[in-house]
Amino acid sequence: METRLYGDPMPAVCFSPQLRVKELEEQVDTMHTALICALNQLLDLKDLNTGFHSTRLAEWAMRVAQEMGMDESSLRNLEVAALLHDIGKMGIPDAILQKPSRLTTEEYDLMKKHPEYGWGAIRLFPTLDRASLFILHHHESYDGKGYPAGLRNSEIPIGSRIVSVIDSFDAMISSRPYRKGLPFEEAMRRLFESSGTQFDPQVVNCFVKIAQPEMESVFAATGTTSTVVF
Ligand SMILES: [Fe+2]
Repeated sequence: METRLYGDPMPAVCFSPQLRVKELEEQVDTMHTALICALNQLLDLKDLNTGFHSTRLAEWAMRVAQEMGMDESSLRNLEVAALLHDIGKMGIPDAILQKPSRLTTEEYDLMKKHPEYGWGAIRLFPTLDRASLFILHHHESYDGKGYPAGLRNSEIPIGSRIVSVIDSFDAMISSRPYRKGLPFEEAMRRLFESSGTQFDPQVVNCFVKIAQPEMESVFAATGTTSTVVF
């Protein structure tokens, strides 16, 4: 403990407003990060596979976005959107989420609400307005046949177009209790087949260039066998 002799002047204390603002900004940032991690953990609890899937998806999405020249603040929003894109599924009954057979029309209509549920929650974060929009539109289709708004081409936010490609590809190669994940070659074929209809071709090309060299380790993690020699 510091000792001061009687009569010594008090030490100068720095009350710089700039430093105080910076400190508060850092505190808000830490709080945001903690809340996002907490929400991601809740996704893990709901369905472990989804949590793992979201983490891998976020890593790929960030790299595709960087390659496509996305600015720094949008990147932050994209990372959150990729991690929490299916957070709205918390509002969908387990009986539908875990149904091993085909959904009825009514069940599918309810499932299609999850982007709006996610948008409704994430838009409450003051700095994550773009993330909430990326989440809202992550099931739009490049040809306008997706949901919830039927947006097409560049009307769909770029972050949503990126999440859509990587989310779909990861879902294709991941095994589920009721089906085995697709081999790499078949997943790639389906991705290119839907390039220009469901997916933004520019995003598909950029993603394939980044992800292809890493597929062997990804396939090992998903437990799916690859038929490709890398
Ligand atoms: Fe989704």
